[in-house]
Amino acid sequence: MVQASEHEDKALDRDCTTLSRHVLQQFQGFSAQAQDLSALMNRVALAGKLVARHLSRAGLMEGVLGFTGEVNVQGESVKKMDVYANDVFISVFKQSGLVCRLASEEMDEPYYIPENCPIGRYTLLYDPIDGSSNTDTNLSLGSIFAIRQQEGDDIDGKAKDLLSTGDKQIGAGYILYGPSTMLVYTMGKGVHSFTLDPSLGEFILTEENIKIPDSGSVYSVNEGNFWQWEESVREYVRYVHRTEGYSARYSGAMVSDIHRILVQGGVFLYPGTVQKPEGKLRLLYESAPLAYVIEQAGGRATTGRMNILDVVPQKLHQRTPLIIGSKENVAKVESFIQNGH
Ligand code: AHG
Ligand code: MN
Ligand code: MN
Repeated sequence: MVQASEHEDKALDRDCTTLSRHVLQQFQGFSAQAQDLSALMNRVALAGKLVARHLSRAGLMEGVLGFTGEVNVQGESVKKMDVYANDVFISVFKQSGLVCRLASEEMDEPYYIPENCPIGRYTLLYDPIDGSSNTDTNLSLGSIFAIRQQEGDDIDGKAKDLLSTGDKQIGAGYILYGPSTMLVYTMGKGVHSFTLDPSLGEFILTEENIKIPDSGSVYSVNEGNFWQWEESVREYVRYVHRTEGYSARYSGAMVSDIHRILVQGGVFLYPGTVQKPEGKLRLLYESAPLAYVIEQAGGRATTGRMNILDVVPQKLHQRTPLIIGSKENVAKVESFIQNGH
């Protein structure tokens, strides 16, 4: 029999490292939890594929782009794409036996899938489309997700157990809809990225155990808010302006900005303003999942005063300031916020 070379073997093995297989490998065995999480991630991946397909044809179909005319619980105008992606995540978990509740940035209250609830102890929290303002101009977008285990019986149907710290996340990640579609996840055992191979319809392993550089030259912030910030944040940005070597990068979708920072280093900031000290980003659907990913990669995420993963939300749609990225860059911002220099 003709033997494949070691090189061919490796290439084939890599091509076969799909997302669901990778999750199983993470748990080194075929325990019930490993099977559940692998199946759950497979459904998240399906949601990502459906959204990516929709986005890739958006300019060719009627009724896909633009606003719905509604305003969501966040007080923001809803895009048709937000609604589509929100529904996709619900749909993929129907008849899954995995996820009883879904909580999304776009829904006032958590959504229950009653047929899953007797056995489905997982809750999915998600931002269906991150960077909605990029939708109509064919620019990068993302989806963000976190997985939590349901605690208690949730008898009143208010999902109060979700009002707990980010340390309760058992998995988190994002899907980046860029020139290719990528999925990045952590389950507390490092950060791993996958690229969608459209010819296979599978997410295939791109990089395992990604480590964020300890420092980087990118700072990513909406400087249009300069005069709304606290003086300490303005002082930090002035420091960046007079220090050689920094580059500004801000796309309007934090998933793509933070992905760049994960790979190349730097810092992303969405500080509070004097009028809105909590800022814009949502703790449970945006800040906490991304904080989990970045911490697992060796970086940091803070409000400026405490670690994001230690913040206890008072309500489901709570907002939080966010400073996230390379350790040294985050420490510098913190030092301006806490010590003024
Ligand atoms: P979303 O589209 O889910 O509302 O999130 C957008 C977020 C984030 O992705 C982005 O960095 C930021 O809001 C952009 O906001 P500004 O336009 O205020 O900079
Ligand atoms: Mn978002
Ligand atoms: Mn969104």
